[in-house]
Amino acid sequence: MDLVQAIRSRKSVRQFTDQKVPKEIVYEILEHAKWAPSGGNLQPWTVHVVSGEELRKLVSSVQNNLLEMKDETPEYNVYPPDLKDPYRTRRRVVGQALYELIGVPRKDTAGKLRQLAKNFEFFGAPVGLFFVMDRQMEIGQYADLGMFMQNIMLLARSNGLHTCPQEAWARWPETVSRFLNLQEHEMMFCGMALGYMDESAKINELQSERASLEDFVNWRGFE
Ligand SMILES: Cc1cc2nc3c(=O)[nH]c(=O)nc-3n(C[C@H](O)[C@H](O)[C@H](O)COP(=O)(O)O)c2cc1C
Repeated sequence: MDLVQAIRSRKSVRQFTDQKVPKEIVYEILEHAKWAPSGGNLQPWTVHVVSGEELRKLVSSVQNNLLEMKDETPEYNVYPPDLKDPYRTRRRVVGQALYELIGVPRKDTAGKLRQLAKNFEFFGAPVGLFFVMDRQMEIGQYADLGMFMQNIMLLARSNGLHTCPQEAWARWPETVSRFLNLQEHEMMFCGMALGYMDESAKINELQSERASLEDFVNWRGFE
């Protein structure tokens, strides 16, 4: 698979098969992904890779939280509270497309929550990754982490795997930090599901849109 194919075939997959992913494949993906650039070569990330019984344990503690309607203060706001347009509309459009696809009506809050809860089962993926940063880090280092994560997502594609990056996990900072034995200065920024796409799942038919270049590129100095 060439680079363009990897980029264009990556999408957020929200239903995986239970086919296992061997540790050697994840190891190799990380071995290549670590060559992402980072300002000052800080390589400001640590990664926790969870699978098997350990993953089941984590999933069950979060499902318990949901059942007992426990709440934790989210680690951070995933979106600004007063998200402006065009960002607000883009978010609404992709959300509506997703719920329409899986037959959840607009006002069905419970149905939407059920879909949201699937985040906390890694959408059935056999591997979950957690990306952890030192709380000391600044905006620049979060860009570094993004590049590292994108490397992982593209390398996943070249191994026949799919991913879903998951900020939703920031909703459970105490549960996740306890499970990963994180120290005070460490912050779990984002999760990621990794596995084989369930080709038969309706939800995986979702094709998100992108703005055209005219909307976000300013050219200068070209003939
Ligand atoms: C950092 C990051 C966090 C995300 N968190 C979630 C998440 O928690 N749950 C989810 O279903 N999708 C999540 N997504 C997926 C986005 O919704 C998705 O990337 C966007 O709609 C574009 O669709 P595509 O990835 O299929 O191209 C996340 C994406 C990124 C980059």
